[in-house]
Amino acid sequence: GSCPLTDLFGRRITYLRLSVTDRCDLRCVYCMPESMAFLPRRDLLTLEEMDRLASAFVTRGVSKIRITGGEPLVRKGVMGLLESLSRHLASGRLKELTLTTNGTQLARHAEQLARVGVRRINVSLDTLDADRFRAITRRDEFHAVMDGLLAAQKAGLAVKLNAVALKGITEGEIHELIAFAHGRGMDLTLIETMPLGDVGADRTDQYLPLGDLRRLIEARWTLVDTPERTGGPARYVRVAETGGRIGFITPMSHSFCESCNRVRVSATGVLYTCLGQEDKTDLRAALRGSESDEAFHAAIDEAIGAKPRGHDFRIDRTGAPKLARHMSTLGG
Ligand code: GTP
Ligand code: 5AD
Ligand code: SF4
Repeated sequence: GSCPLTDLFGRRITYLRLSVTDRCDLRCVYCMPESMAFLPRRDLLTLEEMDRLASAFVTRGVSKIRITGGEPLVRKGVMGLLESLSRHLASGRLKELTLTTNGTQLARHAEQLARVGVRRINVSLDTLDADRFRAITRRDEFHAVMDGLLAAQKAGLAVKLNAVALKGITEGEIHELIAFAHGRGMDLTLIETMPLGDVGADRTDQYLPLGDLRRLIEARWTLVDTPERTGGPARYVRVAETGGRIGFITPMSHSFCESCNRVRVSATGVLYTCLGQEDKTDLRAALRGSESDEAFHAAIDEAIGAKPRGHDFRIDRTGAPKLARHMSTLGG
């Protein structure tokens, strides 16, 4: 169990996305319905189990770990997990330890995040308007997120804003989002909505292809393509007027699966080798079965050997997504 993880298509797996909870304090309309059934807490891995699991991936060449949710900062003890995992930063095996958060609890955690070695974080923010924020997330937490952003930057964390492109909303606000992010030294990444799970709304009404948005952006700003990458699927442009970057994540219009370097593990210890496929392997049994990691590494090898070539996001005739699980069960 120490050889690198490579799949049948020659893709090296170096990036683990670990979900620590499926719970969230927001209810974003593209992510989950208002009445979302969360997992019973007893089904979740303990933080010690998550540490062992993530550490096993580090011995297999994973050099980037992103903690996700649901909302990772609502899981009790998550800071302890990050602190513990930071030993792999010290050893040099891990190059990046980070998280994706909705920002509502960030103000309280920012300093400690910086202290345990997190250098940059991704914060989800789709709008700069408090009323629209309430319409999208169904919660009144806009100002908490703004406070979180300030605290993160004050703590020295680099911040990237993630905005899901929403038809009828993002077109009218894109210039403000760019000016806001770049004015504060933050990258901005735009994301095409993916149909995962029933959210009680028509997905085709929400979907805005990023090609459309790019044309709008180019009417106002000068974009220069750059080969710079941040380890995820985003392709970046630099805005000449601001010097800041915009990332485009286009799973629906231009897939990026041929360069996929990642796998994800749910808070229940299920390994998913692709966000847009059903393929999964329960690692919890192997993890709980023995003190040694052998069975566990064998299960990982088998799963990675069967990693699909690419995702398959589809909506059937009735408007239902082919994949029934929600985004929040895997944290994206
Ligand atoms: P960086 O480290 O900043 O590059 O971040 P990242 O893009 O890897 O992570 P983030 O959590 O910010 O994810 C941004 C969006 O990309 C989310 O909507 C994810 O669901 C989506 N995403 C990340 N990886 C994949 C992937 O392998 N396939 C698809 N379809 N979407 C992905
Ligand atoms: N499609 C695309 N992105 C989504 N996110 C949540 N649900 C979806 C979806 N259905 C985004 C969040 C967060 C990131 C982890 O995934 O806004 O930024
Ligand atoms: Fe929560 Fe993120 Fe889903 Fe919004 S997108 S409901 S913040 S998990």
